[in-house]
Amino acid sequence: MNHFAADADIRGRADLDVVLRRFYTAAFADRQIGPFFTEIAGTDLEVHLPRITDFWERALFRSADYGRNAFAPHAALHSARAMTGADFGRWVQLWNATIDGLHRGPNAERAKAQGERIALALHRRLAGDSAPLHGEGRVGFVPLAAVELRSVA
Ligand code: HEM
Repeated sequence: MNHFAADADIRGRADLDVVLRRFYTAAFADRQIGPFFTEIAGTDLEVHLPRITDFWERALFRSADYGRNAFAPHAALHSARAMTGADFGRWVQLWNATIDGLHRGPNAERAKAQGERIALALHRRLAGDSAPLHGEGRVGFVPLAAVELRSVA
């Protein structure tokens, strides 16, 4: 495998560890969504990583227990600062780019598809009835430009 091609699929927890550490390092440093972690939530990465690894191991391989409430911290964040479609679009963009940079295969595709699906579901649930039905702020809207960037990442 060379440095420019991701040849292997995501095989299990050890691969997820690498993906998630890389993803959250990028997310924390990101100008758009970083402040949700660093300024609003004050997230400790070493606490967050084992939880989020359980979450993804469960989602992709059904082989870990994740019994926590994944919605609650986002509801708290959203009331401190509204999480917009653009924020979720940025999350999806970083997620897809991280996976494409490391892996290729059915599990990598499932991880990207699930990331997008959960981002949309979270956004829809947070925005609720207050969001307009059309335009940038509409419910469940993740800017396509951000999602399409994964093909060039
Ligand atoms: C703009 C988008 C997002 C932002 C800014 C964001 C931010 C955060 C923050 C700050 C936390 C709390 C971490 C802590 O304990 O300090 C969190 C938790 C979490 N997030 Fe997100 N998140 C986003 C989208 C997503 C998406 C799309 C998913 C699912 C694929 C997700 C899955 C989770 C999970 C599983 C937890 C852990 C809950 C727990 O077990 O305590 N997040 N997120």
